[in-house]
Amino acid sequence: MSKVRKRPSYNNHNGFRMPMGFHTEGFTSALEYQAQPSDIFLVTYPKCGTTWTQYILWLMQHQGEPLSPSEKLETHIPHLEEVGKKTIEKLPQPRVIKTHLPYKLTPHHPQAKYIYVARNPFDCLVSFYHHTRGFVQHYNFADGTFDDFFECFIKGEVDFGDYFDNLVPWYEHKEDENVLFFTYESMKDDLKSIILKIGDFLGNDYLETIKNEDFLSKIIINSSLKNMKKDQQRWSSKRPKNMPPFVHKGKVGSWKDYFSPQQQQRLTEKFITKTAGTGLENLWLD
Ligand code: A3P
Repeated sequence: MSKVRKRPSYNNHNGFRMPMGFHTEGFTSALEYQAQPSDIFLVTYPKCGTTWTQYILWLMQHQGEPLSPSEKLETHIPHLEEVGKKTIEKLPQPRVIKTHLPYKLTPHHPQAKYIYVARNPFDCLVSFYHHTRGFVQHYNFADGTFDDFFECFIKGEVDFGDYFDNLVPWYEHKEDENVLFFTYESMKDDLKSIILKIGDFLGNDYLETIKNEDFLSKIIINSSLKNMKKDQQRWSSKRPKNMPPFVHKGKVGSWKDYFSPQQQQRLTEKFITKTAGTGLENLWLD
């Protein structure tokens, strides 16, 4: 008899799973948000480097000066499908908006800019597991095991949908003039180059800021893993003491401590099937 597995709880919007704390109104109205020409969308699948990039964007807007520990990053760069369109519309323009929506649901405007950050699915899965355990109010999964979560992830039965349904369509648009695509791993490898790319892509004040060596080095220092581990309430609500913090290991290859050989094989097979012919096969060769 197969083992009965624990599953996280979600809000289900016609088959699209969302965290329980995200209200239906936020999700449905997010889909109706009219993208503006000056909007900058930060798009990711969950756990792929969203907050890191979000903070880099904020630092680029503020000459590298850190966000006060009493402030929340999400106030300045809100999560579209969490807060809904009314909150976004109240933000002054130009706006920076975070979303985990797949390509077909994301609000589009030909002049808006889209920054997409991808992370290899193995580390994403491990990070997503800790996230799902830690946000007890969103998922009711505090005692779920890695094996339980693995089964949900591999079937795409997690919030924001299947990892590959998010990654592949965005990757197909990576050469669009208004899309900048890069990986979490490339940020870990050479953050300065990525910040320079973001500056070139966004232009305007972002480009002016990074031309200044002092500002650029402040952005790099203040967005380091070490500094982002401090004052975690800037990025996340409180988690129970026995759960890992939001900014956690922040490394490449954490998956090796969690996956069984069979799990590695199953996710590898899914990766090969879902990315065949897309060019993504070579993105994380190792
Ligand atoms: P881990 O759980 O593997 O540590 P998101 O913001 O999309 O939810 O992604 C969270 C992941 O990004 C977590 O990964 C977190 O530790 C990592 N992260 C956050 N800030 C980081 C930083 N400054 N440097 C490297 N990784 C960071």
